[in-house]
Amino acid sequence: MQKMIIAIDGYAATGKSSLAKRLAKTLQFKYIDTGAMYRAITYFALQQEPKGSVHEKQLIAALDQIKLHFELTTSGQEVSLNGVNINKEIRQSDVTSEVSNVAKIPEVRAVLVAQQQAMGIEKGIIMDGRDIGTVVFPNAECKFFLTATPEVRAKRRHLEQMDQGIHESYEDVLDNIQTRDLIDSTRETAPLRKASDAIEIDVSDMTLEEVYQKIWSYILKKQSKTS
Ligand code: CDP
Ligand code: CDP
Repeated sequence: MQKMIIAIDGYAATGKSSLAKRLAKTLQFKYIDTGAMYRAITYFALQQEPKGSVHEKQLIAALDQIKLHFELTTSGQEVSLNGVNINKEIRQSDVTSEVSNVAKIPEVRAVLVAQQQAMGIEKGIIMDGRDIGTVVFPNAECKFFLTATPEVRAKRRHLEQMDQGIHESYEDVLDNIQTRDLIDSTRETAPLRKASDAIEIDVSDMTLEEVYQKIWSYILKKQSKTS
């Protein structure tokens, strides 16, 4: 398969990372979960004194001390912050509650977008997030934008969290998803938005397999046109 950039954007819990991981395996492409990068910065901010809340100015001043590292293992992407694996920590509810407030800080986005663009320089990459098709790689060969009702997404995320041993009520998951949707889509810098040339898929009534097949057939079509 010719090396290209595949951007998968969309709302929380629409299946972006599950699909991106599978595609990356099939295509032998790199996979980057950019949400994990915003989550890692949020985790760092919450660890700074006084702990437990985000201090914007302090965080901006400390951005150059943050070294993120990603490694793709058979069990998924492992994220480390300054040498310490924080894979579990970034999925906890304190991080999930604050991440959209951190992700709207322009200085944070500038640092992470530059890192993401550097990761894609050799192509052969699949990136999922909120602004990949609009800001990070506006020239990506394939762009997808996933949507689904908040209730379906909350139900799926709630089940996923229970499997991972993260205990949060369905109502709290739904509330978090709706709050993040609002902050992510109304922020000034790089809001969550479908790129004009992205393929939009409503996954509310689709299984992951069905969505995968739809995305896959589009990639094959695109590939045959460019080769
Ligand atoms: O997995 P889930 O959809 O719950 O979220 P995520 O992909 O881990 O992203 C967490 C948060 O990071 C989002 O709600 C956004 O606030 C932010 N984010 C962003 O602003 N831009 C991206 N490219 C990726 C994530
Ligand atoms: O990365 P993102 O937050 O968009 O979603 P994900 O973590 O890949 O998917 C959230 C959960 O929804 C996972 O447990 C998926 O298996 C599930 N899902 C599903 O069952 N059917 C879909 N069409 C999409 C996602």
